[in-house]
Amino acid sequence: MTGRLAGRVAIVTGAAHRGSDGLNIGGAIAAEFVAEGARVVAADVDAAAVAELADVLNTDRPAVVAVPTDVRDEAQLVALVERTLQDFGGLDVLVNNAGVFRGDDGPIGELGAEVWDDVMAVNVRGPMLLTRHALPALVASGHGVVLNTASTHSMGGDRRLSAYGASKAALNALSQYVATQYGKQGVRCNAVCPGATASPPLRRGTPEVLAVYDHHTLNPRINTPADLAKVYAFLASDDAVGINGMVLRVDGGLLAHQPYTPDLAALAAATTGPLLGA
Ligand SMILES: NC(=O)c1ccc[n+]([C@@H]2O[C@H](COP(=O)([O-])OP(=O)(O)OC[C@H]3O[C@@H](n4cnc5c(N)ncnc54)[C@H](O)[C@@H]3O)[C@@H](O)[C@H]2O)c1
Repeated sequence: MTGRLAGRVAIVTGAAHRGSDGLNIGGAIAAEFVAEGARVVAADVDAAAVAELADVLNTDRPAVVAVPTDVRDEAQLVALVERTLQDFGGLDVLVNNAGVFRGDDGPIGELGAEVWDDVMAVNVRGPMLLTRHALPALVASGHGVVLNTASTHSMGGDRRLSAYGASKAALNALSQYVATQYGKQGVRCNAVCPGATASPPLRRGTPEVLAVYDHHTLNPRINTPADLAKVYAFLASDDAVGINGMVLRVDGGLLAHQPYTPDLAALAAATTGPLLGA
């Protein structure tokens, strides 16, 4: 195999293919890793969707093994690493990508402790425990990489998704701690913060909501899972050896401008004369 991940073995959590909805972000990462020559252990709590992903990606060569896994259960995370070592003989890359953004994750004044606990269990505790159990193999590989899927919600507030935003900020910090503690042993760890991304859950939004995301993104369109996957493949490869402990926005410019810029641009387009009176 050729490609910048040739010979590498990766675990990708939250990796799925769901019928006509197609690949989610984790599924697209798995697909890109395979295209770059890696073998992938895809893990998701949705057993049918992760099995479907393996079916879709294993057309040219048997590169993907599907392992139904609930990242809230430490025993399943231990088993996931053991299965990877058994099937593929090592582990080079871990992508902690599984995450939940729950409809009942509302404003703090209405937030139930059980919602908070569940979001933290999936989005932070799972990645921490999986990293912990993967570290011996990642160190042994001599070029281990951990990539954590955080979010631009870790960098700014929203009307809802309070536990989600806090969990992703914790994941950013966790990434820097892993990099700090294991960098000298050859393990790089970075957090990727997608903005609004046209994955299946977001594509189910109303046209009005999708238009708001487009309006506030500097690129002509919001990112797709495939756009993100290219960045993950780069970060997982030796080409990114110089990047460690980074929290990287991959959001098409969503957070690169003053929040009111698109609104002022629309106002300027509809107004003759200077906006601020000068
Ligand atoms: N789509 C966006 O706009 C966006 C923006 C920023 C960050 N993200 C993050 O990207 C990641 C992928 O999101 P997506 O857009 O592909 O949505 P998605 O819902 O398709 O992906 C999340 C996956 O995680 C799996 N999952 C949920 N709970 C799990 C558990 N307990 N154990 C194992 N797997 C579990 C789900 O089954 C699903 O396949 C998430 O971490 C999400 O927070 C997405």
